[in-house]
Amino acid sequence: MTLSRRQILTGATIGIPAAALVLQRCGRPTRVDGPVVAKASSARDVEQIVAAQPTVDGAGVKLNRALGGRALSLLDPFLLLDEFQSDDPDDYVAGFPDHPHRGFETVTYMIDGAMEHKDSVGNHGRLGPGSAQWMTAGHGIVHSEMPKQERGLMWGFQLWVNLPAARKLIRPRYQDIAPARIPEVQLDRAVARVIAGKAFDREGPVTGIDVEPTFLDLALTQGASVDHPLPDGHTAFVYVTDGAVRIGPKAAEVRRGQLAVLTKGDRFTATCDASSGRVLLFAGRAIGEPVARRGPFVMNTDQEIQQAFADYRSGRLTDGV
Ligand code: CO
Repeated sequence: MTLSRRQILTGATIGIPAAALVLQRCGRPTRVDGPVVAKASSARDVEQIVAAQPTVDGAGVKLNRALGGRALSLLDPFLLLDEFQSDDPDDYVAGFPDHPHRGFETVTYMIDGAMEHKDSVGNHGRLGPGSAQWMTAGHGIVHSEMPKQERGLMWGFQLWVNLPAARKLIRPRYQDIAPARIPEVQLDRAVARVIAGKAFDREGPVTGIDVEPTFLDLALTQGASVDHPLPDGHTAFVYVTDGAVRIGPKAAEVRRGQLAVLTKGDRFTATCDASSGRVLLFAGRAIGEPVARRGPFVMNTDQEIQQAFADYRSGRLTDGV
């Protein structure tokens, strides 16, 4: 169909309001329904800074606890973050022999050194530098995490992520992720590893997790500026593993060994004016349920915790899974 000049100008046959065409002819904005107002974007600031505290866990492993201790007990859905970093074998060789878990997920991320994982479901994995493991304990699992080296640097992290009540007793699941499966994105003066969630047009290999987690390892050098969208409702925090970074519009400085809880907002921004700064960024949907925890179990009520201990003693913790 060929439109006449008059038809085009009046919009008569193509449903365009004549006013819009008039405005176009005047070289003004084509919209006639008012200016476009973009939804305000808000970068997250630092709400609280907590220094990791030395502690001992497993069979005598020395580590630093950034979350899950007295200073900061819970960041729903995150329950715990430990860092172990030592080149003294006495600090780590004892490892974490057989122990149970129920009701949540454990995440291990290694920067250096080697650990071996074995569990009651029959999984057997070796964690080397740059690898990750996401284990959903669910109904119950008994596992060991032991060093596979007698000397040298051991440097890694363990994060605990809660499960909603309706999913606490699901069948255990184990995602063993080799370093090559983790996308590494070269940015301007920074490198991002995407372990979970979507970032910088890449997607992390961890899948099917209830709280829809983001887990990034961001290594910045001097002058870097990183900007990454985060779901506004998600709880988010960073842990600085090296150097120092500045976070958010107020450019709060967070240093090695510090955990920073982030305010609400739909973006994470960080810059680096030190020689370098490396951070782990975690975000996830809050579960909003009561948390009852003792030792290796995380449930909703004390009664469920007592049941978990009873099931472990009687051998039923790993039954039917
Ligand atoms: Co464990």
